[in-house]
Amino acid sequence: MAQANPNISETRPVIRQLDDAAINRIAAGEVVERPASAVKELVENAIDAGSSRIAVDFADGGKTLIRVTDDGCGISGKDLPLALSRHATSKIDGSDLLNIHTFGFRGEALPSLGAVGRLTITSRVSGAEAASIHVAGGKTEAVKPAALRAGTVVELRDLFFATPARLKFMRTDRAEAQAITDFVKRLAMAEPAITFTLRDASGGGEGRVTFRADRENGDLFDALHARLARVIGREFAENALQIDATREGIRLYGYAALPTYSRGAAVAQYLFVNGRPVRDKMLTGALRAAYFDFLSRDRHPAAALFIDCDPTLVDVNVHPAKSEVRFRDPGVARGLIVSALRHALAEAGHRASSTVANATLGAMRPEPALPAQPAPARVYQMDRPSSAARQVAYQAQAPGFAELSQDYSGSIVEPAPVAKEEPPAQDLPLGAARGQVHENYIIAQTADGMVIVDQHAAHERLVYEKLKHQMAENGVAAQALLIPEIVELSEGDCARLMAVADDLSRLGLTLEPFGGGAIAVRETPAILGEVDARAMILDILDELADQGESQTVQARIEAILSRVACHGSIRSGRRMRAEEMNALLREMEATPHSGQCNHGRPTYVELKLADIERLFGRS
Ligand SMILES: Nc1ncnc2c1ncn2[C@@H]1O[C@H](COP(=O)(O)OP(=O)(O)OP(=O)(O)O)[C@@H](O)[C@H]1O
Ligand SMILES: [Mg+2]
Repeated sequence: MAQANPNISETRPVIRQLDDAAINRIAAGEVVERPASAVKELVENAIDAGSSRIAVDFADGGKTLIRVTDDGCGISGKDLPLALSRHATSKIDGSDLLNIHTFGFRGEALPSLGAVGRLTITSRVSGAEAASIHVAGGKTEAVKPAALRAGTVVELRDLFFATPARLKFMRTDRAEAQAITDFVKRLAMAEPAITFTLRDASGGGEGRVTFRADRENGDLFDALHARLARVIGREFAENALQIDATREGIRLYGYAALPTYSRGAAVAQYLFVNGRPVRDKMLTGALRAAYFDFLSRDRHPAAALFIDCDPTLVDVNVHPAKSEVRFRDPGVARGLIVSALRHALAEAGHRASSTVANATLGAMRPEPALPAQPAPARVYQMDRPSSAARQVAYQAQAPGFAELSQDYSGSIVEPAPVAKEEPPAQDLPLGAARGQVHENYIIAQTADGMVIVDQHAAHERLVYEKLKHQMAENGVAAQALLIPEIVELSEGDCARLMAVADDLSRLGLTLEPFGGGAIAVRETPAILGEVDARAMILDILDELADQGESQTVQARIEAILSRVACHGSIRSGRRMRAEEMNALLREMEATPHSGQCNHGRPTYVELKLADIERLFGRS
């Protein structure tokens, strides 16, 4: 550099070796970003030590105090200085960085924390006396004898006192406390056999327990289910489907919620790779893709999913905080998530979420006479059709579709004759239709309760599933345009579109390059009738840009089918005869995914007799 730098003297710059304290402070910048990351490191150490109880206390959002107490294997007095030195670890021997079975392996968390805060470790291994060591701002003191029954207590005070610049970036105590809770909860989900306690000790004293999860017993799924109920909530657990699938040495297990228990943001998505909580775009993208068909874009699935595989198939050493991973073959993990979840959702068939029933009950409960508690929160929220949905709505009037849907509703009007040995309708899941109210809701009686069906939503889903089925069986009929429509695009868009032209042509949309950036649309899917080809092409391009995959084009067409189905279905306001209503119920039972309409809204709610009796104060 030609310009003189005021920080460097005129003489030639000297290269010097930084001292350990400086090196550790630099490393700490990556490992401990905020109090919650310190909590994460300490709790991970406690888990690695084989603990069965872990308690976390913090004060002022973790800024003044973080204390993690465990009953694990402990550290001997002789090893305490080593635990504080950089790149010293008991977890790997350095020969194989791909074969990692513990949370830690880099040997830098404790030295980093000791470089930026005041750290005291007190520990005891069985058969020896307890000992403690203290380090503040990188200055380590001698090991001293201490008193402790078993395990380890790591106390970190005044985090970042040695790096005031970082201190300035801390958020409010509340935000930091929230982040700590979040990390602890994520780790608690992955370790149902460990008891976790989180206490806020701001202001001194014992502190207030803000989260507690006692050890869960039982097999893998029972324990996990109970732990998820504790951490995410009972409602999630009640509406979650068990997932367990293996492909090419990768196992996926956990719980994923029914589409009717979806959220307005991606706040209830927990992913773990070999027990390690991760935030990974590829994995969340796969989760989204699996629900694509069941949720409108503004709704997000809820799930806690664990991917277990040979540690050599995944690299966790991507970032010091280890929250990112790289799969050797990302396609396998992605495909496994998409197919396992779709399969589970299909199996769940017409089951709608209990959230819906609870919300219904909440809404039905008589108003209390006295000013009382607020109404129960409605987790489930209706969504509004997107503008894209409105845009394609007119296609429902298309001639090709009209016939199809006519043909379809025909099958509802003419129910198949019921064979003698079939069980009486009342014993079937959706029961026997007893009547229709407000020209849209079918009331049916089941063995132990009643079901209210939204006939429009239900029929919409049935038409959609039928269209999809037909498409899979026969392909999509194309209809040639008399005059090909020329759509002007950029060259890049044109190339992106042509890259998926084969997929599109199987779906009845035939495109040809027309020179420059233009594309000629020669055929359109007959089912859509007269189409605004340009609008459709732009939609597909948006989707491609968004998702980057030709696979989603099929879903896109399915989404269009779904909108079409919406407009071709029995409108609310149509009176139905008893046979028609029963035929609709039977068809719902036989159709996968019929528990929610194409927008993720439920198609029916079920009220158990016991719930109804509760409403009337009879139980
Ligand atoms: N709670 C604990 N109980 C028993 N031993 C512990 C505990 N915490 C730390 N140790 C010991 O101290 C060593 C250093 O811990 P540190 O967190 O710095 O590194 P690490 O866990 O090995 O790797 P990483 O930096 O990836 O976390 C560990 O390898 C372990 O042997
Ligand atoms: Mg560690």
